[in-house]
Amino acid sequence: MKISIILGTRPEIIKMSPIIRECEGLDLDYFILHTGQHYSYTMDQVFFEQLNLHEAKYNLDVGSGTHAEQTGQMLIGIEKVLQKEEPDVVLIEGDTNTVLAGALAAVKLGISVGHVEAGLRSYDRKMPEEINRILADHSSDYLFAPTEKSKQILLGEGISEEKILVTGNTVVDAVFQNSKISKNKRNVLDDFGLRCNEYFLATVHRQENVDNECRLCDIIEGLERTKELGFDVVYPVHPRARKVLKKLGIKSNGLKLVEPLDYLSFLQLERSARLVLTDSGGVQEEACILGVPCVTLRDNTERPETLDVGANVLAGTTPSTIVNKVKLMLAHQGSWQNPFGDGKAGRRIVRFMIENFVNCKSIG
Ligand code: UD1
Ligand code: UDP
Repeated sequence: MKISIILGTRPEIIKMSPIIRECEGLDLDYFILHTGQHYSYTMDQVFFEQLNLHEAKYNLDVGSGTHAEQTGQMLIGIEKVLQKEEPDVVLIEGDTNTVLAGALAAVKLGISVGHVEAGLRSYDRKMPEEINRILADHSSDYLFAPTEKSKQILLGEGISEEKILVTGNTVVDAVFQNSKISKNKRNVLDDFGLRCNEYFLATVHRQENVDNECRLCDIIEGLERTKELGFDVVYPVHPRARKVLKKLGIKSNGLKLVEPLDYLSFLQLERSARLVLTDSGGVQEEACILGVPCVTLRDNTERPETLDVGANVLAGTTPSTIVNKVKLMLAHQGSWQNPFGDGKAGRRIVRFMIENFVNCKSIG
């Protein structure tokens, strides 16, 4: 069995790393195809170095562009590599343009597709990620659903049960595998003059927030107003957000705006934060896993499990609502169970491929 692991962005590198480690450990025939969707050192290479991953065998260097330009160039590049390598199966993870291009290129060549983190839905079709998820799920032969809830969503869309395996989310594997190393790392809180439990950690990068001037200004105002509660706010700024903040000349009064962080530093900041404010999917999950309350700067989430266990609330982008939801979560003393699995999702996925794919070429 030859596996092609297709990835292209920061969260895909992090969430694919447990699967890559498993492939390495079992000495499987696999290769990494990087689309180059993310390419800045702090969004790409730093994660390969820190997570000890081999360099990608192919990097398409597609870079940034409109959705059509980016996805179209990826499709062309991925098809060429897949035709040359003839893998038995392609693995994709999540909901980016890289995922859509990987799924489409493979399915049209008749190559089996395995979708890691299948069955997530925000039911907001204005989000590019929602379209990517739906199309990727419906192009896939193997749907690795992180939770029972995501499995039910797939069943509700008519995907046959034989194609679905509930595995947990590989983000838990990544957090568990790297938390210990991160604890032993030099304390990044000192670098930013922060004290444990006395600051909030913020991340904002979604297209619908960052590329909308009103929403972005509201979010920045909301973050600034949370400082009135007596906490510092540190915000590692994604390049999409950096570009727009600069263009609009938005200055932040008192927020600690820093460069995107390496994974181990980010895990340290997440674990020691009093609260997380974010529009990121992965950060909502990680906060929930690490037991840190989360306020999500969106109107919906495709991670409803975090709401169900009481780890997360939706705040949208109105400043007063952001402050109120922060107060609510600060008052909330409860602890919760991590709904995303036991940290063995990567192993389950790879073992499944070995046991079922090699022998039967189909789950059914
Ligand atoms: C993409 C995903 C999003 C995911 C995010 C993870 C899509 C549609 N969106 O959004 O789902 O949550 O990655 O971070 O696939 N840029 C750089 N350096 C880089 C990468 C991007 O400077 O390495 C800048 C460029 O100005 C670029 C902008 O960021 O135009 C947006 O990059 P893009 O890959 O289009 O989307 P993301 O916002 O990163
Ligand atoms: N992350 C990181 N450094 C940062 C911000 C985030 O390493 O400065 C990690 C974070 O731990 C999580 C992932 O990036 O695992 C989330 O990626 P992102 O928010 O870019 O994308 P999303 O999950 O929303 O698709």
